[in-house]
Amino acid sequence: MGVQIAPSLLSADFAWLAGEAAAVADTADWLHVDIMDNHFVPNLTIGLPVVESLLEHTRLPLDCHLMIEDPDRWAIGYAEAGAKNVTFHVEAASAPIRTARAIKSAGARAGLGLKPATPVEPYGDLLAEFDMVLVMTVEPGFGGQRFLDAVVPKIRTARELIDRNGAEIWLQVDGGVTEQTIERCAEAGADVFVCGSAVYDADNPGRAVDALRSRAEKAVRTARS
Ligand code: DX5
Ligand code: ZN
Repeated sequence: MGVQIAPSLLSADFAWLAGEAAAVADTADWLHVDIMDNHFVPNLTIGLPVVESLLEHTRLPLDCHLMIEDPDRWAIGYAEAGAKNVTFHVEAASAPIRTARAIKSAGARAGLGLKPATPVEPYGDLLAEFDMVLVMTVEPGFGGQRFLDAVVPKIRTARELIDRNGAEIWLQVDGGVTEQTIERCAEAGADVFVCGSAVYDADNPGRAVDALRSRAEKAVRTARS
């Protein structure tokens, strides 16, 4: 799998979600949906009822990013509803393996999310249970924050652990990923890029996705040559 771009609806107009999804339907690979509960993060967004409605109005697969407490209880509902990927945070989970298996048995991919201060090394042996690792490149909770360069070494470490594992596990970055920062993420080994404000603050969100993708692909080619 090559570079994939997942626009985050957090920077879109929440009263116009179907239209905002349609704006990137021809150029994006995923639609990233940020679920926040005002406990795990200091912000509140949407939950399962809105995700269920959104599923009726877009053909893009939904990438649900759960920034909630007790994902062991709630994650499976998003997979059962039809989200194609469900990522939860390891900091909030008490049984991450059981939760990952439940997500997968409901037919979705399972993602392991890590806040900026959470190291990836302790989870090296768990990676085989997951389809994707999400390295947060800002403190989760809000769109439009500045990319944390301090997290780039962790992207590299995650890539090494994934490659050592041998399975095809995707490596996602989320937070402050823009035309200015996407190349350093791609060069460090990320392959799935969540972009909120860089897409939805643009005049043409669909074309912004294309521009981000070309930059990431160029960085991957340079890193490999
Ligand atoms: C932040 C969310 C992100 C957010 C990214 O906690 O997880 O998905 O929408 O927005 P930008 O790309 O503007 O940093
Ligand atoms: Zn997110």
